[in-house]
Parts: sequence; structure tokens; C-alpha cells
Amino acid sequence: MTILWDHDPGALETYAFALGSGVEQIQAGPRISRALGEDGSHTLVVIGPDIPLESACDLAEQERVDRPELGVILLRHRLDVNALAQALRSGVREVVQADDLPALADAVRRSEALTVQLAGHNPAAAGRDGKVITIFSAKGGVGKTTLSTNLAAYLASTGARTLLVDLDLMFGDVAISLQLTPHSSVRDVVAMSGHLDVQGIASVVTTHESSGLHVIAAPPDPADADRVPSHVVVELLRMARTAYDYVLVDTPPSFTEHVLAAFDLSDLTVLIATLDIPAIKNLRIAINTLDTLGEAKDARCIVLNRADTKVGLKPDDVESALKESIAASVPNSLSVPSSINRGVPIVLDDARGPVAVAIRELADIQIRQRFGETLPNGAKRSFGLLRSKR
Ligand SMILES: Nc1ncnc2c1ncn2[C@@H]1O[C@H](COP(=O)(O)OP(=O)(O)O)[C@@H](O)[C@H]1O
Ligand SMILES: [Mg+2]
Repeated sequence: MTILWDHDPGALETYAFALGSGVEQIQAGPRISRALGEDGSHTLVVIGPDIPLESACDLAEQERVDRPELGVILLRHRLDVNALAQALRSGVREVVQADDLPALADAVRRSEALTVQLAGHNPAAAGRDGKVITIFSAKGGVGKTTLSTNLAAYLASTGARTLLVDLDLMFGDVAISLQLTPHSSVRDVVAMSGHLDVQGIASVVTTHESSGLHVIAAPPDPADADRVPSHVVVELLRMARTAYDYVLVDTPPSFTEHVLAAFDLSDLTVLIATLDIPAIKNLRIAINTLDTLGEAKDARCIVLNRADTKVGLKPDDVESALKESIAASVPNSLSVPSSINRGVPIVLDDARGPVAVAIRELADIQIRQRFGETLPNGAKRSFGLLRSKR
């Protein structure tokens, strides 16, 4: 979190590009110390060009003692050697000419890196060791979004810090399925590329109130999908896992570069099968691709959705065609589309129904237990019981 100390009400807009997200502007000097005292997450104070040099130096001097990891950057209309020397002596990290926005952006980046070092940790190493779980099928309409939203809402409702990222960048419908009105999307992460931090992530999430789930929605305009480079997805997922226990990723039905980036970082890939030949053929191709990418077999599980559909094909046929076993089965139910239409995840809406029970079991066994959570009695169910559901 950054504080911009500037009397000018338009300053935030002027420097927004260089400062990135998570910036709070404070106009009055005395409020700065209070804000810093109240919230320990501030990492940087940028002082505007019209704040007197003495006041700026006083703040830097005081914070250098109280919070050495806090960065102070001073903006001046013109750089003069005396001011520069005085500022640096008082603990200001950099003095930047106010109209040189690229230089300011560089200074912000250097300061953030130094803050990380001084705090004695790298947030990526010291934060949470969250697990990335990608839900994928190479075929559309098989239940990726249904499963990812429900798994995520359930995990969040257990108290786990959970983020769901919609990587179906063109046709993502996570937000609509959860009846959210996002103010930002994956597209907004692009501007923070290279210096994305936990606060940056917090600035683009939308909270699903009834479960506590955080969501990063797909861009509202499909044309924006091309404007999200895959390295941004990598940076997003890496940083997100330091802040969340679980980061779930919903995907489009194809191996986009974003999906491949997510696979690469995933601790678990949930592959969805349905009882139809094209879906199984596509799943076989997906499994081969994951093998080629070097993904460990125990880092994935296969879920059969609409498992009780009577179409002549049986779960055993799927297992023998795939040469992999099915880890969980979710039954077919009309309550699924009706819950989606109402925008309420079925795990919360119809918690006792067979679909909700199956999804919770899947989450309990394949996610929570797998990643070392000890479940309360009753939540633990044997693998055999789970499989007998089909
Ligand atoms: N277990 C299920 N029972 C009944 N309908 C389902 C089930 N799972 C998914 N559906 C329906 O299938 C459709 C596609 O699901 P969705 O999750 O959007 O698939 P995908 O994200 O893979 O394209 C939705 O209309 C949803 O209501
Ligand atoms: Mg979908």
C-alpha cells in the first residue's frame, strides 16, 4: 500500500500510472503519521513536489527510525543538489523530478524491492504457501465453471482464504454465475505487471459476500483477452499463492497460453469428464498434453460430471478408455442450472442435495485432505464411499 502525500486533489490521477494500484492520497501532513500508525501494510510514501522540503525530511527521518522498511520517495519540480543531499541524509530513498513519470515508476519499483529485502523476507517465500488448482476440460459445457465456482465457494465457506481466477478470458462467466458485478478484471492486472503485490491483487478482486470467496473476473470485453500476456498470469498466480490458501483457476475449453501457464504453476489439475465419446477423446488428449508438460500423475484428478446420465456409456468405460481412475463423480441434476440462473452456488443453495454433497466430498478429499488440512469429524469420508456414489 502506498501513500501519496500531496495537497493537490488531482495528484492521484497525475501519478497513477507511475504509482500503480493500492495508492491512498493524503493531503494533510499530520494525517500521514496517523495513517502509517494505524495500518502496518504501507510500504511507501511518495511526497508531492509542493510539500515543503523540511516537512518531507522530518517525516523521512522519523520513519527511518520507526519503520526502516518503509520507503520514502520525494518529488520536486526541479532537482537541485542541496535539496537532494538534505533529503537523502534524512532517509529519503530517492528524489525524482515530478514530471518524469517513468523515473518515478522505476524509483517505486526499486523502493519496493528494497522494502522486501529490509523486511527480511521475500513475500513470495515468506507468505502463505497457497495451492493453485486448475479446473480444465478441452470441451465446453462439461461443467468447468460449475465445478470451479462451487469448489471455490465451498472452500471459502470453510474459512480458507480462497481466490477464484477466471482465465476464460473471452467468455468467462464466473462473475455472472456468482451474481457479482466486478469493478475490475484480469485485464487490470496487466498495468501492475512487474510490480504486482498482494495489495495490487486486493485492488482487483470482487468479494462473493455469502461465502467470503474472492474472485478475479474475466475482462468484460472479449477483445481484451489478447491484451493479457501469459507472463502476467504467471505473476498473478505466483503472488496470489502467497496471500491465499487456495487459488482456483477456471479455464476456457482450449490450451491457450494462459491455460498452459496455469498448468505449469498448478499443484493440482482437476480434469472433467462426461459420459460422451468426444469429451473422453478430448480428455485423453489433455492427459497426454499434461504428460508432455511433465506434470506428475498424482498432481491431477479426474472428475466425472453428470455421472448418472443414461447414455449407454458407463463410468467404467471412461476409466478404461482413459486408463486412469475417476476420483469423484458429480450427479446430473436440474438444480444445477437453476442455481446458476439464480446466481447462488449449489453448495450453498442446496447444501443437502446430491450435487452439493458430491462437490463437498471432492473438495474435502481431493483438495483439503490432499493439501494437509485436518478435517473435522464428519467431513472425513473414505475414498470408497465417494466412489460408491456413482
Ligand atoms: N451436474 C450437472 N447437472 C446438471 N447440469 C449441469 C451439471 N454440471 C453442469 N451443468 C450444466 O451444464 C452447463 C455448462 O456448465 P458449465 O459449468 O458452464 O460448463 P463449462 O464451464 O465447462 O463450459 C450449464 O448450463 C450447467 O448448468
Ligand atoms: Mg465455463
